[in-house]
Amino acid sequence: MCVDTRILALLCDPDTHDALELGDDCLVNPKSGRRYPVRDEIAVFVGEVSGQNRKYQTMYDRLAPGYDFAERVYYWIRRKPSHRKEYVADLEIREGARVLEVSVGTGANVPFLPKNIEFFGLDLSWGMLQKCKRNLERWRRQADLFHGEGERLPFRDAIFDCVFHVGGINFFNDKARAIQEMIRVARPGTKVMIVDETEKVVNRDYTKNPLTRKYYAGQGKMASCPVDLVPAEMSDVQAREIIGGRMYCLTFSKP
Ligand SMILES: C[S@@+](CC[C@H](N)C(=O)[O-])C[C@H]1O[C@@H](n2cnc3c(N)ncnc32)[C@H](O)[C@@H]1O
Repeated sequence: MCVDTRILALLCDPDTHDALELGDDCLVNPKSGRRYPVRDEIAVFVGEVSGQNRKYQTMYDRLAPGYDFAERVYYWIRRKPSHRKEYVADLEIREGARVLEVSVGTGANVPFLPKNIEFFGLDLSWGMLQKCKRNLERWRRQADLFHGEGERLPFRDAIFDCVFHVGGINFFNDKARAIQEMIRVARPGTKVMIVDETEKVVNRDYTKNPLTRKYYAGQGKMASCPVDLVPAEMSDVQAREIIGGRMYCLTFSKP
C-alpha cells in the first residue's frame, strides 16, 4: 500500500477514532499529535502489545517463513486440501465489494476470493504480513495491508461490505471487543464471519506439535465458538462446525 487520499479517507486512529492526516512516512492524528509509521508500504498501528496477543504475535512471527508449507502438509495429510472453499463460498462477496480480513496472516484465503474486489488485510504479526506481501505479489493480487490488533481496528465506521476472520480469535486478548470492532467497521446489512479451530483440534493437534505445543499447552478451553459474544441486535446468527468438525463457523448480519 502506498497510503494515498483514497485510503486515508477510510482510516482513523484505532484508539480515538479521530481522522488521520498524511505526514512524512507516517500518519498523524492532528488532535493528539500521535504518529503511526508506514513501513514497507504497511501502516503500523501496533504499539505496546501485551498478554495473549504478545504471546501469539511472537509465535506467528517465528512460524511465518514455514507457515504456508506446514499448513499445506497438515491439510493434505488430513485429505482436506480445499478446506478454505467450505467457508469462503458462504461469504457471498459481490463484485467490487470492499472486503476486510482481520488477521489476514500470509493471505492464504485471498486466492479463493473474487479478483475484482477491494481487499484490506490486517494482522498483528509483522512476519506474517511480510509473507503476505510476497504472496500477493506472486499471485498478482492487489491488497492494502495494515499492522494492527483485531481489538483496535484503524478503520472508520461502516465502510466494509464484508468482514471476516479465520484462525486467531480463540486466543485474542479480548474476543468481545474484536467482534464489536468487526461490527463497527461493517456497513449495515453486511455479513460478518468468524472461523476458528474447535477445542478438540487445539487439544489433539496443536498441544502435541513440537513447534506449537509450548504456546497451546492448557489453552484448549479458550477455543470455543464465541456465539455468546454476538450482540443481541445482530440478525441471522448461525454457528456450525465445518471441515469435518475441525473448525467452527459463526456468521451474523449487521442490521
Ligand atoms: C492461524 S493464522 C490465520 C491466518 C489467515 N487468516 C488464514 O486463514 O490462513 C492466525 C493469525 O491471527 C493473527 N493474530 C493473532 N492475534 C491477533 C490479534 N489480536 N489481532 C490481529 N491478528 C491477530 C496472527 O498473527 C496470525 O497471522
